[in-house]
Amino acid sequence: MRAHNPKDSGTDQGQLAPTELGRKYMSGFGNGFETEALPGALPIGRNSPQRCPYGLYAEQLSGSPFTAPRSTNKRAWLYRIRPTVANWGHFDKADIGLWRTGPAHATDVPIAPMRWSPIPIPTHSLTFIEGMCTMTTTGDVDSRAGMGAHLYFATRSMEDEYFYNADGEMLLVPQEGRLRLCTEFGLIEVEPGEIAVIPRGVKIRVELVAGPARGYMCENYGSAFALPERGPIGANCLANQRDFLAPVAMYEDRDTPSRLFVKWGGKLWATAIDHSPLDVVAWHGNYVPYKYDLRRFSPVGPILFDHADPSIYTVLTSMSDTAGTANVDFVIFPERWLVTEDTFRPPWYHMNVMSEFMGLIYGQYDAKAHGFLPGGASLHNCMLPHGPDKESFERASNVELKPSKLEGTMAFMFESCLPQRVTEYAVKVEQLQKPYRVYGKMLKSRFDPNRP
Ligand code: FE2
Repeated sequence: MRAHNPKDSGTDQGQLAPTELGRKYMSGFGNGFETEALPGALPIGRNSPQRCPYGLYAEQLSGSPFTAPRSTNKRAWLYRIRPTVANWGHFDKADIGLWRTGPAHATDVPIAPMRWSPIPIPTHSLTFIEGMCTMTTTGDVDSRAGMGAHLYFATRSMEDEYFYNADGEMLLVPQEGRLRLCTEFGLIEVEPGEIAVIPRGVKIRVELVAGPARGYMCENYGSAFALPERGPIGANCLANQRDFLAPVAMYEDRDTPSRLFVKWGGKLWATAIDHSPLDVVAWHGNYVPYKYDLRRFSPVGPILFDHADPSIYTVLTSMSDTAGTANVDFVIFPERWLVTEDTFRPPWYHMNVMSEFMGLIYGQYDAKAHGFLPGGASLHNCMLPHGPDKESFERASNVELKPSKLEGTMAFMFESCLPQRVTEYAVKVEQLQKPYRVYGKMLKSRFDPNRP
């Protein structure tokens, strides 16, 4: 890719973020960015001039209806060597492997908590697309509600292969291995501890930087991820806008036999093209891919007593049409101090109308001392009871409550207002921990009417 960026800017900050491993990013969430890889490639003062500089085509990528309110209106203008429609030839249905899309009712959903040990990265050849394994789906892709929770495994880079997802926005949570996301908008590199969001319709090629990769992916069929309101917290903390990074323009002018894959309507389609579609020389707009380092999340929590609801750790939210009700919340459990007095500090026992898919990026999660491992996953579905296991309960009930720090840990949750349906793969995979469904049976009565 060639890059030349004399005037990249986020309109809020107007500054490039620090260079990271030679990569440049623009800082801010939802900004109207502008960037060009050749001087003068970006039309000034208009979107669609009669003739674009350098013989480029102008193309709008609309991420929201034209008439959406300003706060949710998203679009980008791309100035590219060929318009996307020039790639449009005959498409064949391609093998979608273990990638599933809601509604998917292939198997009964167990009425039980579920947990999986880490599934090893296969040794055979798999691209990011070929190695997508769906664990749960919820909602209906055609009604723009719900999500899919996936594990991805990749052992090779995509070569002359490109992909875009028309079904949903993709939130990538690397757990092992570094990914280079070559997008129409420029390069994004992510490692474990960071996330990347690829909006619906944005073309990518996923490359491995240092060996095989494993991670989680939330495919969000609903409204685009946004920052949650902070309410009384005020103007700072949680995920701050300036820490979200968008790429600067880069382009490929490369003629070579290639394949373009499109996930559309729950199916995977492929067509032959003879050039790279990552040919955007300049762009502007607020519908962009971005990355975020989860370690920059500034947690706010209880500082005297009690355990607060996990919603205080929401990084991004995809809102449903009902106020305060998330199609998907992306919530993390980062390292933090625990200081509350006379408090059972781990999460309490509860039942929840929301459904919770969890993963662990690194470290140990405080509600489960063992069995929930980095790369593993768990599902606590709508109105199914859960809470700390016996060992964690005993320890938390008896430990001396000095200030203590949970260090070196990063768990996360994809939480949806809709019940999650597990796939046949998730039910049959050998890493499913069958005994987990009855872990609560270890908790015995401790009641003594003579001991207040
Ligand atoms: Fe829960």
